[in-house]
Amino acid sequence: MLLASGHTAEALQGEELEHQFRESDVVVMTWPKCGTTWMQEIVWTMRNNPDLDNPQAMVPTHNRVPFLELDILLNSQNIPPLGEDSELMKAFRYRCPHKDPKDGILMQITEVSPDPRTIKTHLPFSLLNPHLLDTAKVIYVARNPKDVVVSYHHHSRLIKFHDFSSSLDQFVQYFVDDDLVFGPYWMHLKEAWEKREHPNLHFVNYEDLKQNNMVEMRKINEFLGTNLTEEQLQKVAKYTNFSEMKTREETQSDPKKTIVFNTDIVTSSGGFYRKGKAGDWKEHLTPEMEAKIDQWTQQKTKDLGSSFRFSS
Ligand code: A3P
Repeated sequence: MLLASGHTAEALQGEELEHQFRESDVVVMTWPKCGTTWMQEIVWTMRNNPDLDNPQAMVPTHNRVPFLELDILLNSQNIPPLGEDSELMKAFRYRCPHKDPKDGILMQITEVSPDPRTIKTHLPFSLLNPHLLDTAKVIYVARNPKDVVVSYHHHSRLIKFHDFSSSLDQFVQYFVDDDLVFGPYWMHLKEAWEKREHPNLHFVNYEDLKQNNMVEMRKINEFLGTNLTEEQLQKVAKYTNFSEMKTREETQSDPKKTIVFNTDIVTSSGGFYRKGKAGDWKEHLTPEMEAKIDQWTQQKTKDLGSSFRFSS
């Protein structure tokens, strides 16, 4: 099946990724579609571009903020987008001369990325270096699973190499069966939630970031120790809002887009920057799908404690 769950969580059980983190690293950790790219851009911009004058910002986000375990998803060095002509292989050859891509393209790109690094991961704590929080800072973004499943379904149809076309109904079933890539949603979230008091972990809800954007931006500023002024924070907030990020992506002449995206899905349902809303699930989920997710959520969140909540 598309989502190759066998290659990720299950295959990695008990074999955490042996990546060495550094003190200056900030890791953006999420289950897919929880607002990873948004947080990557916020963190990178706060740390590297608070006055919006850094020319590096023109480089697409995924090239500034490496996706630590992307090699797992690529699964093989031979899939079409990874020919020598591909953007990723060119970047690898340039940044890691004399290295072997079979030892991990993104793992090695991450290793040679200059400090201070902002790193993206969808892996949960239990699959990463156990000393991660003793060494680096982590920002965890959680999102209402109903919006996550709608967004992930879209994403799976959008990205060509997933080769996925099933219905939302079927996708919701995979989700509640914990059968999608990156495994069980609630287990992933719970591992972070339990560590939320750790001084090196900052836990953010997508919905809060959306609704009280400046309040959350101030908290992130304090957590990162970036000491941005209120004026700089305002600028970063505007620069990273949905419409600005969407417009920048649409105006970038990135040849990758037609290789990676299904253009018919872009036309019918939107591109990567689809809606960027909290509560869009109400437009997509049937009452049956909603009930299925509610029941699953109720079961899985019993031990998360009463302070855990998502806005609806
Ligand atoms: P939708 O599909 O609901 O629009 P990720 O980066 O983890 O893959 O998450 C992608 C989701 O975050 C998509 O959700 C995308 O539109 C949304 N998103 C991306 N940038 C955003 C921003 N600046 N503000 C709000 N939502 C954003």
